[in-house]
Amino acid sequence: MHILHIDSSPRRESHSRELSAAIAEKLLEVAPGASITRRDLGFEPLPHTVANYAAALASPATLAAPPKGSLDISEALIREVEAADVVVIGTPMHNFAIPSVLKAWIDQILRVGRTMMSTPAGKVGMLRDRPVFIGVASGGVFTGDQANQPDFLTPYLSLALSSIGLKTQQFIPLEATAFLDREQAPLAREKALAALDLTVMGELRGVDGCHAVRSGTGKPYREALPHAPESVVPGAP
Ligand SMILES: Cc1cc2nc3c(=O)[nH]c(=O)nc-3n(C[C@H](O)[C@H](O)[C@H](O)COP(=O)(O)O)c2cc1C
Repeated sequence: MHILHIDSSPRRESHSRELSAAIAEKLLEVAPGASITRRDLGFEPLPHTVANYAAALASPATLAAPPKGSLDISEALIREVEAADVVVIGTPMHNFAIPSVLKAWIDQILRVGRTMMSTPAGKVGMLRDRPVFIGVASGGVFTGDQANQPDFLTPYLSLALSSIGLKTQQFIPLEATAFLDREQAPLAREKALAALDLTVMGELRGVDGCHAVRSGTGKPYREALPHAPESVVPGAP
């Protein structure tokens, strides 16, 4: 089994990084032979949409004959998703929504004719569905009765992922991080993780054939976590 683990916080002392790493560790518990590709959008941001990529996406005609090299980054990132049986995303809430580095990734993986079809009834996903676990850290509260702000993050990210076919999603919020000190954070994370439902992993247990990146280290996954992405996108800075 293969996991794509994405982080998008710019912070090293990040709650969403800790949360996504903890989710990945839970996945490794049920699938100890899994391998992991890291995509660290927080520390190694992708370029925002550039002119030749926007030109390629401008119309069906330009998509059929895109400028040379314009789709290379998009293609590499889509292949990372396609290679994964499970995707884990760690994201902060920034101004009621996802951070711009995660939006830059979405702008590369949602592509008409490649990951979704445009139909009169709307966008139809072209990727095989697979579980996506999304750990969200927010300074304030955005769910339930105590919510004191709108949540554009969950509906937007859910729709963006569904539109390419990734419909099996689980959002795990870790809220009110502004009021957590260092000692309280692990307990708050454990409480958030209690909502994690891994039953969907049972169906994937037979998927194997890869080695685990942490094998032999004896350390928790998060300690072995490399800061740089393991696969390199051609053309990315
Ligand atoms: C630019 C920026 C915008 C933010 N906007 C919000 C927000 O709209 N709602 C909220 O609850 N917290 C907001 N926060 C606080 C973060 O969500 C909080 O610090 C969270 O823990 C960040 O995730 P991280 O710890 O993984 O970096 C914002 C933080 C930054 C830096």
